[in-house]
Amino acid sequence: MAESSASLRIHGPVRLVGEVRVTGAKNSALKLMAASLLAPGKNILHNVPQIADVEIMSDLLTRLGCTISYDRATLTMAIDVPSEPGHKAEYELVRKMRASINVLGPLLTRVGIAEISLPGGDAIGSRGLDFHIAGLEALGATIKFEHGYIIATAPNGLVGAEFELVFPSVGATENLMTAAVLATGRTTLYNVAREPDISDLGEYLIAMGAQIEGLGSSTLVIDGVKTLHAATHSTLPDRIVTGTWAFAAAMTQGDITIKGGRADHLEIPLDKLVAAGAVITSTTDGFRVKMDHRPIAIDVATLPYPGFPTDLQPMAISLNSIAQGSAMVTENVFEARFMFVNELRRLGANITVDGHHAAISGVPLLSGAPVIATDIRAGAGLVLAALVAEGVTIVEDAFHIERGYPNFAEDLRELGAEIEII
Ligand code: UD1
Repeated sequence: MAESSASLRIHGPVRLVGEVRVTGAKNSALKLMAASLLAPGKNILHNVPQIADVEIMSDLLTRLGCTISYDRATLTMAIDVPSEPGHKAEYELVRKMRASINVLGPLLTRVGIAEISLPGGDAIGSRGLDFHIAGLEALGATIKFEHGYIIATAPNGLVGAEFELVFPSVGATENLMTAAVLATGRTTLYNVAREPDISDLGEYLIAMGAQIEGLGSSTLVIDGVKTLHAATHSTLPDRIVTGTWAFAAAMTQGDITIKGGRADHLEIPLDKLVAAGAVITSTTDGFRVKMDHRPIAIDVATLPYPGFPTDLQPMAISLNSIAQGSAMVTENVFEARFMFVNELRRLGANITVDGHHAAISGVPLLSGAPVIATDIRAGAGLVLAALVAEGVTIVEDAFHIERGYPNFAEDLRELGAEIEII
């Protein structure tokens, strides 16, 4: 959203029709920015989305001594990294954005010390750091906790090791990968996350001179090098934003061409939409989702990639709330991610939650009401629900959505939604 927003006012129901363009992935761009700390000199990142979290990461890197310029017209960012970056990420920035934890691996391996404020929990769950810590300790780091900070030191550098993640955590895989590229010797990481963001980060590191084998698989073999050099890389398109548009098309019985969207990064969610009755066809630089009847209910269980993404779980619940029939949505990644279900109920959705299962019985149309966005994806899920709710829905705390969806309100308006920022 270019216009800074307090709330979104949506008048439904509406059928979304037209074209929309997807830019770089939030969860990739932030990690690429953090990884730039590994290479002194001028790093260039293309397709960096214009979202609030990118500004927060820019602030953090600037405090660490980097000089950053961002051209909003071309979405190109230049990050000039000093030969001696700082090593501290303060609470005031980390609390705003959990991805701040991604500077841990790069700073530790390059500077020999990193002091990062503990991010704490957020609205989707407790989000531990135990895998990050155990992995860095396996590489020879000493880690302690003081005054709300995690202090990691390795004055003589890290040393390659073998390490197996208990769960394929995205954040832990990224921190360990970025730490291992400058360690002495070989690191083998087992059971790593396979999200496309990980491969994107790996390709950037390889462009800097890193030696990494196994990208896209669950084992990474990294041979440490002494130094890395500045590089240029283009951020991959946002698969969660892409998926959100695909669900929006299916839910509103619409017809949306998603330019720049990669269907190959969304195989399971798109299979689900086909099961719901959508017709999906590929186009020259993306794909098109068309739906000409009320969706059929779809069971969904979130899992690490290539499973159904937890970040699209709110969209799946929203779709099922107006589908024909009943469905079960199971959340296997973040324990507290059903918080927004209470908001959806305010719109007339028929949902029962039991532990990490939500049973949804579809109703033909929701009914507009004021609701509150509790996090980025829940916020987007509520906006989709508002599009199929009769009357006016006000989505409060819409700044959450701004953290992950550039120009969301404008894009929706272009597709025919009656939406205003208030
Ligand atoms: C990232 C994304 C988030 C997305 C998620 C899953 C960012 C900032 N966030 O989160 O939007 O929803 O991937 O695709 O990029 N866990 C531990 N210990 C650890 C690490 C993780 O217990 O050391 C647990 C978490 O609490 C969670 C699960 O593992 O239950 C998955 O976490 P992880 O994949 O690390 O997600 P994030 O990187 O935090």
